[in-house]
Amino acid sequence: MLIRSSKKSDVASSEITSESVYMRRREFIGSAAGIGLAAASPVMLAAPTRSDLIASAAKTAYGNDEKLTPFKSVTSYNNFYEFGTEKKDPKKYAHTLTTDPWSVEVEGFAERTGKLALEDVLKGETFEERIYRLRCVEGWSMVIPWVGFPLANLIKRLQPTSQAKYVAFETLYRPEEMRGQKSVFSSIEWPYVEGLRMDEAMHPLTMLAVGVYGKPLPNQNGAPLRLVVPWKYGFKSIKSIVKIRFTDERPLTSWERSAPSEYGFYSNVNPGVDHPRWSQKTERRLPSGFLSVNRIDSVMFNGYGEEVAPLYAGMDLTKNF
Ligand code: MTE
Repeated sequence: MLIRSSKKSDVASSEITSESVYMRRREFIGSAAGIGLAAASPVMLAAPTRSDLIASAAKTAYGNDEKLTPFKSVTSYNNFYEFGTEKKDPKKYAHTLTTDPWSVEVEGFAERTGKLALEDVLKGETFEERIYRLRCVEGWSMVIPWVGFPLANLIKRLQPTSQAKYVAFETLYRPEEMRGQKSVFSSIEWPYVEGLRMDEAMHPLTMLAVGVYGKPLPNQNGAPLRLVVPWKYGFKSIKSIVKIRFTDERPLTSWERSAPSEYGFYSNVNPGVDHPRWSQKTERRLPSGFLSVNRIDSVMFNGYGEEVAPLYAGMDLTKNF
């Protein structure tokens, strides 16, 4: 994997605390795993909850040497238009969302379709932690320790047929709990929808996340289940998924529908193709402030080119943006 170095920047003390607590907990989990079952008490043998499984997710090599964006920035500077268009809105308003019970409807060209309770979506999956860069189309980026599992695992279980060429995703539509869905000024037609080509969906980097920083996803980050596609602009990483549809036609996506000349289906991070209204050559790595803007060069495929460039061999990425 291509690794970029990132500049150091000022971090508020409150942010350092939450990060260091997380680091210490990881050390504890590591040593607890080392002592094994011999030291387990009967209480510890009770079935682990989803939170326990998220907290003890195996750390992988992905992005391990990158400087993490503090928990506070990851969970308070968000895009989740269902709760408003300001970066602070999701944290302020997403607590209104009920995430339990949760289910995912599976439709289209697959052997196994129908409504799956979240527990069944997660059944048999082993959670792992992967540190991925998230590059927003608006020009800021973060480095985030996600917890989840490869989307490919779930797709294999659902057994798509040969007609399935794309996977379409849909976010919950529940205006009584998502105040942004009631707004008459919204540029998004609800529900929020996204899509991937089947080979992109099956790519080992593509992840379904259930946690961040060793904790279940906060609502503002897309609880209880969201997509993470690290080589694409952040808007492809659809939150709070309630529907997965296997289709033979390329699905329309929310941002493509709202401004087709500005947002394409692929939306791979590409500093060589500017957004019609701004450059994509650089990004602001959060946390970023007046005194420490922390601007770095953007990298093709967000730095994951070695793994994903073959998916687009022979394609003109200025046309397929
Ligand atoms: N998913 C839904 N349902 N609604 C949204 O508004 N915003 C997208 C994406 N997923 C969005 C969404 C955008 S533009 C970005 S940059 C990322 O979520 C932000 O993820 P984060 O807030 O967890 O950093």
